[in-house]
Amino acid sequence: MVTELIKSSSVIKRDISLLRDKNTSVTAFSQTMHRLSLAMAFYAGEKLSTSEYQVETPLETTEGFRIIKVPVLSPVLRAGLGMLSGFREIFPESPVAMIGTRRNEETLQPENYYVNVPANDVNEPVFILDPMLATGGTVSHALSYIKGLGFREMIYFSIISSPEGIEKIAGDHPEVRLITCVIDRELNNRGYILPGLGDAGDRYFGT
Ligand code: URA
Repeated sequence: MVTELIKSSSVIKRDISLLRDKNTSVTAFSQTMHRLSLAMAFYAGEKLSTSEYQVETPLETTEGFRIIKVPVLSPVLRAGLGMLSGFREIFPESPVAMIGTRRNEETLQPENYYVNVPANDVNEPVFILDPMLATGGTVSHALSYIKGLGFREMIYFSIISSPEGIEKIAGDHPEVRLITCVIDRELNNRGYILPGLGDAGDRYFGT
């Protein structure tokens, strides 16, 4: 699996610190996650292919560019919703594929409880959004589901990743590209990333 660390600019470092800080308010947390998502979406956008067309300015005709393959955005519920607004701002024409996965308490295996995926061209890339790559179990299940639909190009965006989660995704889905801002030390015995930021969904939604 290709793992790309978004080079830590001062702004990204500041924003990761704001997310980590337990005293950051819900409002500031959600604004910061939005801002980081914009940065990640811009970064991903740099590698998308474009086609040229003629654009008319008020003064003359010049070259314009269109993105050839518009990505499908797939936030992993619930915390992935925190990254959706930023990505939609950069890719306003993208359809959104919702996949809700939870652990079945009897089998202990992940299962989908909600799926709403657009009938899209499977040649489009899918951007999976989940701010915390912890054990990787849920996102690996979501990736298997997306692959099962026929999609072949998947890029997974996490803000903070654990070494354990990276190993899991690399083993299960070596073809997936991971774009992350930072790789933290380890998981604790409850599956939280250390030092991490706590529960991203709780902090984003104020629950
Ligand atoms: N999910 C979170 O929100 N935080 C973690 O640390 C791990 C999983």
